[in-house]
Amino acid sequence: MTPQLLLAFDDEWPLAEALATALAVPLKPITRHRFPDGELKLTLPPALPERVALLRGLHQPNDKLVELLISAPAARELGARELLLVCPYLAYMRQDIAFSPGEAVSQRHIAGLLARVVDALVTIDPHLHRIASLDEVMPGCRARALTAAGALGGWVSQRVPDALLLGPDEEALQWVAEAGRAHGLDHAVCHKQRQGDRQVTIALPAVPIAGRRVVLMDDVASTGRTLVEAATACLQAGAASVDVAVTHALFVGDALAHLRGCGVREVWSTDAVPHATAVVPVAPLLADAIASL
Ligand code: R5P
Repeated sequence: MTPQLLLAFDDEWPLAEALATALAVPLKPITRHRFPDGELKLTLPPALPERVALLRGLHQPNDKLVELLISAPAARELGARELLLVCPYLAYMRQDIAFSPGEAVSQRHIAGLLARVVDALVTIDPHLHRIASLDEVMPGCRARALTAAGALGGWVSQRVPDALLLGPDEEALQWVAEAGRAHGLDHAVCHKQRQGDRQVTIALPAVPIAGRRVVLMDDVASTGRTLVEAATACLQAGAASVDVAVTHALFVGDALAHLRGCGVREVWSTDAVPHATAVVPVAPLLADAIASL
């Protein structure tokens, strides 16, 4: 699908501008008014072309999901016949199993909801652990999952040419392996056990860490505690330095302060989520994928 127009919200404007330039399409805003009771009024351009791309990442997802549930059908009413959702960060992907009876499998329900309002979706490094592809949870929607691991690995290899890429858990193997392969870097993964939102324990892999310049690499950092525990273990094992590279920099609350406090040197991320640590642009990756849809 070659979109004729990109729609975006103000909080993602820098990425929207980069993407519109890369796609060579016009960019127009969706504006919002929040009523005193919290409800939203969204305003789209009054006449839309047939093929429209809508940029809406889902960091801090709940309000943004409502924006999507309103703006996607509104775009169709205003003329869009094909609607592509460009969702650099796709939230709710980590709740992919009922860990106790009655627990909702949010991954399935949120992905299913989106599949009903758009025709196609492009996203980056969604947390697909127990399913192989988004098609399993997005029936009837052309979903494309990209990875920023190669681009992040490129950034890392420029700054730390002899880095040991370390994933904090087994799920991160896909990203460290891809980045390692693309840039000739060693890689390994730790073993993680989560006890609570902010409690995790990490066991280092059986590879030499002492003297190595370690770069911890993951898809998403939320509370940052996974990275803090992994960094602390590496430094205790004699790592020469520990840096961090993540695709999605959520870094809620005091996450960054905790990372700095435990001895992490640099923190790098992509601009899939707007954040002060963003150094790797994702617009080229998104534009290539959209052009080839
Ligand atoms: C889950 O396995 C993800 O890949 C991340 O490791 C996790 O979401 C990070 O969460 P937090 O930063 O809260 O430890």
